[in-house]
Amino acid sequence: MIFYFNEIFNLFYFKNISYVLKYLVVRKVTIVGKIISLVNQKGGVGKTTTSINLSSSLGHFDKKVLLIDLDPQSNSTTGLGIDRAKIKQSIYNVMMGECSIEDTIIKTPFKNLSVIPALIDLAGVDIELIQISVQDKEFIITEQLKKQLEKIRNRYDYIIIDCPPNLGILTTNALAASDSVLIPIQCEYYSLEGVNQLLHTILRIQQKVNSHLQIEGVLLTMLDGRTLLGLEVVEDVRKFFKEKVFSTIIPRLVKLVEAPSHGKPIIEYDPKSKGALAYLNLAKEVIDRNELNGRRDENGTKQ
Ligand SMILES: Nc1ncnc2c1ncn2[C@@H]1O[C@H](COP(=O)(O)OP(=O)(O)O)[C@@H](O)[C@H]1O
Ligand SMILES: [Mg+2]
Repeated sequence: MIFYFNEIFNLFYFKNISYVLKYLVVRKVTIVGKIISLVNQKGGVGKTTTSINLSSSLGHFDKKVLLIDLDPQSNSTTGLGIDRAKIKQSIYNVMMGECSIEDTIIKTPFKNLSVIPALIDLAGVDIELIQISVQDKEFIITEQLKKQLEKIRNRYDYIIIDCPPNLGILTTNALAASDSVLIPIQCEYYSLEGVNQLLHTILRIQQKVNSHLQIEGVLLTMLDGRTLLGLEVVEDVRKFFKEKVFSTIIPRLVKLVEAPSHGKPIIEYDPKSKGALAYLNLAKEVIDRNELNGRRDENGTKQ
């Protein structure tokens, strides 16, 4: 296993990645209305499951949370029981500058949790932008999301953005508007493939549009504790990302698959389940990383 990962890192310029990691973890700043994007260009690694359950768990701990669904598949939207047919304005309209962000926020029945929904039309954002003949299109729309978020960020303790499974315009927009990135990594073979590309994208955004972007943490997901492979992946990811890896590991659990089909986060669907406990632990870790190590000034910047 170790040999396998060494091989990948050699292939993808290990030195380069080490440099990127070092560069990304040195600064420590905490912000009120912290914007955290869940990013991994691989699909099916637990971005949406974590977006829903981290958001609701932060809400459980009295944090005011806004979850933004930035994936055209809109699984965060439906997973919180929101009927797509009833949505009048979504994140698409915000991205296209067609409405004010305030008009898209929906209060969920879950404690302290609001959501900005997505619809399938979000998939057209890239194409519609291509039709605008202006240089640096990517960053025009980036500023739109960022600008809109600035208006509301102080109303929340955390703003969580669930990104689509690619590093296209939507994801780069989220990164440009975010304070940090949470990277879910599935405890599977090949799980680290593509990580270098993700880190380079983060670095590019950091250099070009968002100099304070950081890595919030790396979350190991869907661990099947019965297999040796899963445990080996845990070991390898910890060796590579070191203290950036959350202590909490999300196990592979059927209840976490069932909950969204009932339109509920796991802490509502089965509050005593292992899945609920795992996501509550993750929320505690996120709060600890952000709030225990310093005080905030009136602008929200930690001293
Ligand atoms: N901890 C888990 N245990 C079992 N199944 C999971 C777990 N996390 C996610 N899943 C399932 O895996 C699939 C992909 O998860 P999802 O959160 O949608 O990933 P992504 O948003 O990265 O594509 C979904 O069917 C989801 O229900
Ligand atoms: Mg998803």
